[in-house]
Amino acid sequence: MKQLIENLIKSSISALNTEGVIAPELLNNIRVDRTKDRAHGDFATNIAMMLSKSLKKNPREVAQCIIDNLPADEKISKVEIAGPGFINFFVNKDSTAKALEAMSADPRLGVTKVENPDTIVVDYSAPNVAKEMAVHHIRSTVIGDAVVRVLEFLGNNVIRANHIGDWGTQFGMLIAYLEKKENESGQGMDLSDFEAFYREAKECYDSDEEFAVKARGYVVRLQGGDQYCLSMWKKLVKMTMDQNQKLYDRLDVTLSDKDIMGESLYNDMLPVVVEDLLNRGIAVEDQGAIVVYLPQFKNKEGNPLGNIIRKNDGGYLYTTTDIACAKYRVEKLNADRILYFTDSRQSQHLETVWAICRKAGYIGDNVSTEHCPFGMMLGKDGKPFKTRSGGTVKLRDVLDESESRVADLLKERNSTLSEEEKKVVIHNIAMGAVKYADLCKNRTTDYIFDWDQMLSFEGNTAPYLQYAYSRIRAIFRKAADMQVNAGSIQITCEAEEDLANKLLAFNDAVMSVGSKALPNLLCNYIFELSNLFMHFYEACPVLKDGTEKKVMESRLALCDLTAKVLKLGLSLLGINVMEQM
Ligand code: ARG
Repeated sequence: MKQLIENLIKSSISALNTEGVIAPELLNNIRVDRTKDRAHGDFATNIAMMLSKSLKKNPREVAQCIIDNLPADEKISKVEIAGPGFINFFVNKDSTAKALEAMSADPRLGVTKVENPDTIVVDYSAPNVAKEMAVHHIRSTVIGDAVVRVLEFLGNNVIRANHIGDWGTQFGMLIAYLEKKENESGQGMDLSDFEAFYREAKECYDSDEEFAVKARGYVVRLQGGDQYCLSMWKKLVKMTMDQNQKLYDRLDVTLSDKDIMGESLYNDMLPVVVEDLLNRGIAVEDQGAIVVYLPQFKNKEGNPLGNIIRKNDGGYLYTTTDIACAKYRVEKLNADRILYFTDSRQSQHLETVWAICRKAGYIGDNVSTEHCPFGMMLGKDGKPFKTRSGGTVKLRDVLDESESRVADLLKERNSTLSEEEKKVVIHNIAMGAVKYADLCKNRTTDYIFDWDQMLSFEGNTAPYLQYAYSRIRAIFRKAADMQVNAGSIQITCEAEEDLANKLLAFNDAVMSVGSKALPNLLCNYIFELSNLFMHFYEACPVLKDGTEKKVMESRLALCDLTAKVLKLGLSLLGINVMEQM
């Protein structure tokens, strides 16, 4: 609405400004504000006062001129001059009601698809093979998945890229240890405790020279494409990703096997890329290593920083892989945009990779590369979130704990749900709470992992929002008993109007997540919507005895649309709602 009024004022002023006496910055800073007292209009602007000097007229005169030239719009019912020269706008409540009805009839709830869909590669989750997913992977996984859902909903062609760490010299040791374990047990092994596996493998490697020699041999054979080593390596990858898939499914994360594009995918490209950079003089040889110097990044002495892309022993690095990977995403996947959800410490790494790729022309000017960093997860003490003994917290343990805490909370609440229903409710609240805690803060900041806060039914939490939804559904169960239905909408009071305006802003909220890759913008929107709904529900009786039928029907329609927006909005964040909880 503000935008609309601003545009109306702009076009009126440009009709007035034939002599060009008004400075452009004045036109770009038209302030339209909500009024405090709506008896005198819904929005007001002081632009006439701002312009009176340049136009050499008194403000009320200017205001009148602006009003006279204002294009008619059915969303505005009346415009008035007030005080020294304010212009007050009255919103046409009928057109608001109509807009709400149109929104409610639209399965997309008014969220428009982008005109020119992009191919967007989203690099997220990216756990490492033969390691358990740690709690910090939840940030990339959950935030990335919400952004993926939004971008897809907006009509883009989204490619999920799970850049798993599935390559490196540690695989010789892991293969040798897997072989040892299989020989000992005489059968294939079920790897459920990766932490122990990794630790034991390392212990063998450090203490048993024969084992170490074998492990080093396996690295070479694996890199040379040896069938046996490849098959052992594949087993390790599969065991890890099968286990991770269970976590994805449990978290309702949309990743699957077909999204795995791990580091190993780019192996064959590495020598080719290094040769190419060398041939074209972008990389140079330096003490046996191949290095790219970038003048835009300087070291402590002020000299261009060297980035090794091949070590003097012939080995490639994380950077080399990411160069090949970015090239692949542009050339093979036709990416228009590439988003990387990794923690903020990788920002310099990515900047370097992209700078090299842009210099080499692997990434063109028409492709946008965006690091979507996030801060660290801290414990309540403000230190990095760790187990009591100082180890990394396993994601699986966090999800288990969340479910058991929610189960306890429900016991206190004496719910009337069946055991089956309870299971679903526990799952939805437990996963919702953990995910939402990650989503609702601006991802660039560190955040404190706090069970009591995230599981609270009050404040900006998933349980609160899920509860708001269930509460509305309860209204409809009562309405069905009373045989009243949602009907046509009329806006009769401020609480309704505030709710209505917020509902109509849903499209903007979803769009902003798509362009900025910040899910917290949608969280904030949903939270504010729920608050306005609660306020409306307290201020405006819906089904109370004595309420006029038409009013009941209108208010039910507002309840219904609010529930729909909550449901769709939360589902775009990857959070489920329930009829009852
Ligand atoms: N596997 C890495 C980690 O656990 C994240 C990979 C991020 N993506 C990338 N293209 N480098 O930190």
